[in-house]
Amino acid sequence: MREKIKLPDSIFFGDIKRQFKTWLDQQAYSSYFMLVDSSSSVYCLPEIRHVHPKIKWNIIEIPMGEQYKTITTCSLIWEELLKNGADRHSLLVNLGGGVVGDMGGFAAGTYMRGIDFVQIPTTLLAMVDASVGGKVAVDFRLAKNIIGLFKNPVANFIDSRWLATLSDTNKRSGWGEMIKHTIIADEEAFREIQQITSPFDINWDKWIQHSISIKYNIVQIDPTEKGLRKGLNFGHTVGHAVETFFLELGQPKSHGECVAIGMICAAFISNKVAGLPPAQLKDIVAVIMKWFDKTTIPENQLDKILSFMMRDKKNYSGLPNFTLIPQIGSYIYDQNPDWALIRESILFYNQQ
Ligand SMILES: NC(=O)c1ccc[n+]([C@@H]2O[C@H](COP(=O)([O-])OP(=O)(O)OC[C@H]3O[C@@H](n4cnc5c(N)ncnc54)[C@H](O)[C@@H]3O)[C@@H](O)[C@H]2O)c1
Ligand SMILES: [Zn+2]
Repeated sequence: MREKIKLPDSIFFGDIKRQFKTWLDQQAYSSYFMLVDSSSSVYCLPEIRHVHPKIKWNIIEIPMGEQYKTITTCSLIWEELLKNGADRHSLLVNLGGGVVGDMGGFAAGTYMRGIDFVQIPTTLLAMVDASVGGKVAVDFRLAKNIIGLFKNPVANFIDSRWLATLSDTNKRSGWGEMIKHTIIADEEAFREIQQITSPFDINWDKWIQHSISIKYNIVQIDPTEKGLRKGLNFGHTVGHAVETFFLELGQPKSHGECVAIGMICAAFISNKVAGLPPAQLKDIVAVIMKWFDKTTIPENQLDKILSFMMRDKKNYSGLPNFTLIPQIGSYIYDQNPDWALIRESILFYNQQ
């Protein structure tokens, strides 16, 4: 594993109660709002709602699930902010997974042209990915994250203790993105992951910090995704399309699970057109299949899945945009494999 790079002072690790209280001590917002969903309100809110004796939280609760990551739910958040007198000096704290973080960040980033917000990610995916890098968005007309902003939180609190109540499916979802970070940027760490035999017998703090530093290192150089940041999209071109497909089908799959499928497809394409050695393709497939259950993608639905890819916002001039890997630990972006190869890559996944 590569040496950790320095992270900004606005990202706090460790005991959430202590860290958050100390931070709140130094703030003087006009009012304090906390966004939760119906699950983080049960598992997480009781832990921190009384963290600061002087702060009275206005709690905004939304239903849980990706299907609620919409402009309609956002309107409810804006309405609550407005109704309860939020002004430009109010703070919104997003306590929950990536849905709460993305939507709360978007709601805060647009309310009165932007108020401060804090991310307290409580899922693994939100810790290592969604809460870092300043992308906030909602889905629209079945297109993922299509309405959004680049806006950073004023602080981000990462505490692996939240994982205690998280289901294995959700842990796996975050783990998928963590595997992705090693595949694009740290071969040594990928080789370490290959050695992990017992699922989730993991030093979470070490791996979470490692993963965040990889992402942070990339977004710091290219915050608005003009180039380098596209590396983080590895696995996401097919992944997002598969995610949308299963969401529309009424059988939603976790983001990380879909990215895992997408990574196998992107690795297959990388082997065909970017020089990824066959042995490395095999290693990637083996690591992913070790952690993720097999999903079968209905082959008579491939046209539909490809059509979701066509309207992906990463595209340029109608061509699907892929990040590919010439070898584990490095990547190339803005690659446009043809549709036949993409189709073949999904069939390759189905054969695993
Ligand atoms: N902004 C970005 O850069 C970025 C990056 C990756 C993913 N995302 C987005 O993140 C979203 C997925 O995030 P997610 O996987 O966290 O999903 P999620 O927010 O839906 O959380 C998954 C489930 O876990 C519950 N939960 C949260 N914390 C819990 C805890 N500690 N214990 C028990 N249950 C808990 C949630 O309420 C929810 O039901 C997607 O919308 C995706 O687009 C954004
Ligand atoms: Zn992702």
